[in-house]
Order: sequence, then structure tokens, then C-alpha cells
Amino acid sequence: MSVTKPLPHDSAKLHVTGTARYVDDIPVPADCLHLAFGLSDIACGSIQSINLDAVRAAPGVTSVWLAGDLPTDCDCSPSVHDEPLLSDGQIHYLGQPVFLVAATSHTAARHAARLGQIEYSPEPALLTIEDAYLAGSQFGDAPRIWERGTAAPAIYAAAHVIEGVLDMGGQEHFYLESQAAMVMPQDGGDMLVHSSTQHPSEIQHKVAHALDIPMHAVQVETRRMGGGFGGKESQGNALAISCAVVAAATGRPAKMRYDRDDDFTITGKRHDFQIRYRVGTDESGRIEGAEFLQLARCGWAQDLSFPVADRAMLHTDNAYFLPNVRIESHRLKTNTQSATAFRGFGGPQGMLGIERVMDHIAHTLGQDPLAVRRVNFYDTPETQSGRTSTPYGQEVDDFVLDELVTKLADQCDYSIRREAAAQWNETNPVLKRGIALTPVKFGISFTLTHLNQAGALVHVYQDGSIQLNHGGTEMGQGLFQKVAQVAASRFGVPIETIKITATDTGKVPNTSATAASSGSDLNGMAVKAACDTIRDRMATHLGKNVQFEGGSVVVDGSAIPFAEAAKRCYESRISLSATGFYKTPKLEWNPETGQGRPFFYFAYGAACSEVVIDTLTGENRILRTDIIHDAGASLNPVLDIGQVEGGFVQGAGWLTTEELIWDDKGRLRTHAPSTYKIPACSDRPDIFNVSLWDGQNTEDTIYRSKAVGEPPFMLGIAVLMALSDAVGACGDIYADLNAPATPERILKAVQKVRDGI
Ligand code: MTE
Ligand code: MOS
Repeated sequence: MSVTKPLPHDSAKLHVTGTARYVDDIPVPADCLHLAFGLSDIACGSIQSINLDAVRAAPGVTSVWLAGDLPTDCDCSPSVHDEPLLSDGQIHYLGQPVFLVAATSHTAARHAARLGQIEYSPEPALLTIEDAYLAGSQFGDAPRIWERGTAAPAIYAAAHVIEGVLDMGGQEHFYLESQAAMVMPQDGGDMLVHSSTQHPSEIQHKVAHALDIPMHAVQVETRRMGGGFGGKESQGNALAISCAVVAAATGRPAKMRYDRDDDFTITGKRHDFQIRYRVGTDESGRIEGAEFLQLARCGWAQDLSFPVADRAMLHTDNAYFLPNVRIESHRLKTNTQSATAFRGFGGPQGMLGIERVMDHIAHTLGQDPLAVRRVNFYDTPETQSGRTSTPYGQEVDDFVLDELVTKLADQCDYSIRREAAAQWNETNPVLKRGIALTPVKFGISFTLTHLNQAGALVHVYQDGSIQLNHGGTEMGQGLFQKVAQVAASRFGVPIETIKITATDTGKVPNTSATAASSGSDLNGMAVKAACDTIRDRMATHLGKNVQFEGGSVVVDGSAIPFAEAAKRCYESRISLSATGFYKTPKLEWNPETGQGRPFFYFAYGAACSEVVIDTLTGENRILRTDIIHDAGASLNPVLDIGQVEGGFVQGAGWLTTEELIWDDKGRLRTHAPSTYKIPACSDRPDIFNVSLWDGQNTEDTIYRSKAVGEPPFMLGIAVLMALSDAVGACGDIYADLNAPATPERILKAVQKVRDGI
């Protein structure tokens, strides 16, 4: 059977030979126009006057657009209609698009876009979490508060109380392919859109809205992205809308792609957070009451900030039972890029809060941090301890972390190496080692329940070849191959029989973003449904007792090659084409009260990382990382391990080297690889042991697999905790290292711990 096989990515050869086609590689029609935005130079204020004469006169420019020239407001928001394509006179962040240039070449458009002369009346900008929190600048009428039990009295009565503040930075997606779109006008004003997007249906919806035409007049096609990581759920809207507006007005194709600096400057990133906590424990470190204040910097527009901040709240517990807990979440509005989805979607931020708390408790009580984690773990239902329900009321009924962590700790000699690191630190005044083992429990499903649906379209041709389409998009994660493996398994044919085709709103409508790690869960099931419809029709026609296996259809014991069977069915006028549909069962969720079952199930994993720091420079390395990750019964173990390795490294990058710096004018100073450091190959752990947990999903998912796209990102938390552990070796006070733990921050933390204040 094709599922469970470690097949390479379907486009692996194309990727490594540079022949995979991205939007920018599609041959450009002869009369195509190229677009670029003119950007604001201030973070907050209003426009007093604009002089675009030099832009209009620049070589190659064919037209220049201001907000008033657009057919509608051309709103780009995925949520609440608060993002006009071009400034309406108000400026909300530095880098906001103010005007749009169409020209005969990409370079001509970009060059001209720099020549605008804009006079502003600036106003004071709110840039930081502190600024916005003090000013009460937030989305929504009030903070969102979810509570279970009574946290304050439980903390008051507890034997030990710890308190602290944790700051964590945002993160640039740094997809290798920047945002891009190309629109070709069709008959009668219809539009064909090529877009590098995780969400073709959203692009279709926004283009239709911008042009005031029905959705049926817009077709969006996406073969692949060169990475999305959440940054292409909503941030591609502006480019597709711009191209469509120009194409509609001129009748010419239009294309737009951001260069790297523009992509950094214009688009949203991960939300940075401040988390303030107060936690009471018993003598063993077991939590009795906990309060969290989560402050999220959302930027100028709402975008997906509400579901992101909700997911942070939903991961406040991570793997730990919190009997009494209060979580208060503020969604702060600032004059910065509109923060958006990024792998984990708020989960990493929420989870980092409680992981910090675990280490803080361990330090305060003089205990091993892993022991403190373990006393706080959820129990399994068999224990009947009652310690199985999340703060939001969903039962954790498949908690594998106790076993998984035991296995990991044994395999990687956690206790022995912890002891060895401590001894090493005694004798080495300059270099210090640290080690940490942290778990992940991540909820799988969109928390906006209606998004948990998917469709598929499958054709069997008369030569037995099969064409597959579904609503999911390919961004490198390997979704297309996994889903093709499902189709191959249903028909019992080799994988080469299946042709994977570009995501197309004309083939499968009303799709959700490929996000929330649900791509294979949702589309795998929809494809299975479509395949089984065709299979049933073929079987009914061909006889009784029919099996699909080994490239044949076996009827009453005799094998007919699949191609032959398809031909027979065709000649007997059996329909060989079908759609499939799936919706995730069991979900019921109320974000207002914070109660219900937002997730179909949980994905688990754990990582143990050992690091070394140089206490004179703050430089550091990951010496070794061991991971066991739970992908259920994996659809494809090599692709899943690739996701685990990549997720971990990206998570570690978020918490160490990747630092976004805005100056006091609100200008992002780190807007290129020269100043913004994503992990390179050489930043991987020197020793990196990754394996999959041997288990099945207890829920009925596609071949009992589990979603794997986002959960491993949070395994990177082990690195920050190991770095804190190493810093802690410099003295007696708790090393409350903030993220990203750059060499500068590590050096400061070392100083603080040495000074003991
Ligand atoms: N892996 C690669 N190579 N490139 C990506 O852009 N995006 C991540 C994850 N893994 C991403 C990736 C994110 S944010 C999500 S939600 C999932 O893949 C989406 O795909 P899936 O649902 O098929 O796992
Ligand atoms: Mo992923 S952040 O859900 O696109």
C-alpha cells in the first residue's frame, strides 16, 4: 500500500534542479504590466499632499493609482474589512502602500515607486507592547478572559508563589519565494489569477469583491509556493487585488512580486508577546493556581489576530493540568505591520509562557525541571485522577507524553548528561553548558469550526491514469504527495498512476486555507471519499467480491489490470469522475466563553536540547538535540521527519537568532538577510536524532495519521530553556532569558545572574 511508504516529495527533483515552476516562472504574456507600491515614510499620521509627477514621468510607467482611483475600497482584510489596499489618507504604519504604479517592467515599476513626493502631518506612533498597553490601544471592546476555578485564592493559599514577565519577539516568515501574483484578463471581464497563496478561495473572494463581480468570474490557480509558513494565508491578497484592478482597467495582464526588502517592510509577521505570570505550587512543584496576562502586538489591522491570540490562550496549559487558572488576553493595536499567521498560530507564544513557568518553579524549589514538568502532566483517563481536562473543558483522552518523555529521556541519557553538564560547568569558568527537555501538546483543528471542511475532485481516465485535485495547497510540506499516496492506496495502483494537479478554485470550490496543520487530515479524507465513490461504481459494475490491489482489480480471484478495468467501465458508460467532501466531526466551540471542544485531537512530541554558551561573548551552539514526535500512523515517514526537523530548526531560530528591530520612528531596520538571521544549515544541532513515535491516532483520521506541520515548531522551546539553564550556571538567581536569545541578550543575562540582582 502506498500510504506509510517513505516516498520523496513529488517535486523533489524539480526543486533540486531548479525546474519547479513558481508564479514568477510562468512565462509572462507580451503586453504584461508590472506593478509596485509606493510606501509611506512615517508610522502614524495623515497625508497632507501628494505629488506623483515624477512617478508618472518615469520611464516605462503606464499608470499610477491612488485610493480614489480604485473601483472600490479594494479591502484586503481576511476578517473585518479594515485594510484598504491603498491609504485612504490615514497612515497606520511605516511601509503602508500609498500608491500603485503600473509599468512595462518590474524594475521600471519599482524605480518609479520611489519617486513619489508625499507631505505628511505626523502623529505620535504606538510601536511597542508597552506603548499600546499603557495607551489602552486594542482591538475589541475588552480583553478576552477565560477562567476555570478560582486562581487568585489558590495562589494565595499555595506553599510557593512565583511571578515573572517573559518577552518574546516576532518572526519574519522568510519564505524563499516572496509574495507574487499574476492576473490574466479573460472573456467578458473574467479573471484568471496565479497566486502564491495558501488560500486560493480567499484570493478569489477578495478579487471578486474588489472588482465587484461574482466569485464565479474569478479563477485562482496555485501549483506551489516556495514556502508559506502562515505568511501566505492573507498577505498575498494585496498583490492579487492590485493585479486584478489593473488588468480590469487596461485589459492587459498584470504581475506583481515583492522583492525581499518590500516583503519585509509591507507584510505582517509573527505576533510578539509579553506574558506576565503568577503561579502558586505545592512542595512538589505541582501547580495549584495560575494567572497569565498575555499581551499580543497585532499591528495596525486586525487580520487573523483574534484566532491567533485565542490559540495562544488555548495553549497556555501545554501538557499540564491547571486546576485553577485565569488567562487574560489583550490584542494590542500598534503602528506596525499587521501581524499575521505563522506556524503554530499563537500556540508557540502561549506554550512558551508555561514552559518558562516550569523552569522558574524548578529553580525556586531546587528541583529538576523535568521532574516538575512530570508532576504537572495531564494524567491518562485510566488513573481516574480527574486531572485530564483542559482549562477550556476538552478532555485529554490520549495523553501519550508520559510514556514518550520517559522513552526520550532514556534514549538520550537526560539525567546522566544533566549531571555531566553540571560537573563540566563547575570546572569551566568561561564556557557553560545547559540542557532542557520540553514537551509539546498541540491542538489540531481550525478554531473557527466551519473551516474544518474540504473537497476533492478525482478523475479516472480510460487508460487507467488518475488525475487528482483537492482544496489544499503545496508549500513544500509534502501535502500533495501524501494525498496522492491516499489515492494510490484506495485504487491499489502505483503512485506514478496518480497525477497531482494545481489547486484550482474552478475544480474544488469554497476551500479553507491550507493551515492549522490540517491539510492532510482534511484533504486526505475528501480525496478518499472521492476515490471510494469511483471505486464503488467500478466494483458494482465489474462483479461481486472485488478488490483493488497490486495495480489490478481482482474480481472473484482473477486479476484485471487497472487500466483494463477502467476501459471496461468507460465502455459500459460508468462515470469515472467524482467529487469528495469531508468535515471534521465532534467539534463544538465557543470562543466567547472559552468552553467546548475546539480540537479533534492533540499531536504530541518532546525535544531534549543541549547547548553551550560563551559567557564572554554570548555566542552559543546547539550541541545535540533528540526528538520523538507523534505523527500517529505516519502517511509518509520521511516527509514527516522533514517537517519535524524543519519545524524544530525554525522554532529554535525564532527563539535565538531571528530578531526584528524597529527604530523609534517605526522603521523596520532588519529587512534583509544581511541583518535578519534565519538559521543556516550550520546552525542545526551537531548531533540531531529525530524519530517518530510508534502509535496511531485514537480518532478516526486518514489512515490514523496525525497532522505534523506546526507541532514540531514548538520543540524549539527546548533550546531557549537549555540556554537559560546554561546562563543559570553562572550564579544563583533565576536566569529569566527573554527571546530571541541573541548573543547580546545572553551576555546581559549572564551579567545579571553573576551580579545576583
Ligand atoms: N513546511 C514547509 N516546507 N513549508 C511551509 O510553508 N508551512 C507550515 C507547515 N510546514 C510550511 C511547512 C504551516 S504554517 C502549516 S499550517 C502547515 O505546514 C500546512 O500544511 P499541512 O496542513 O499540509 O501540514
Ligand atoms: Mo499555518 S500558521 O496554520 O499556515
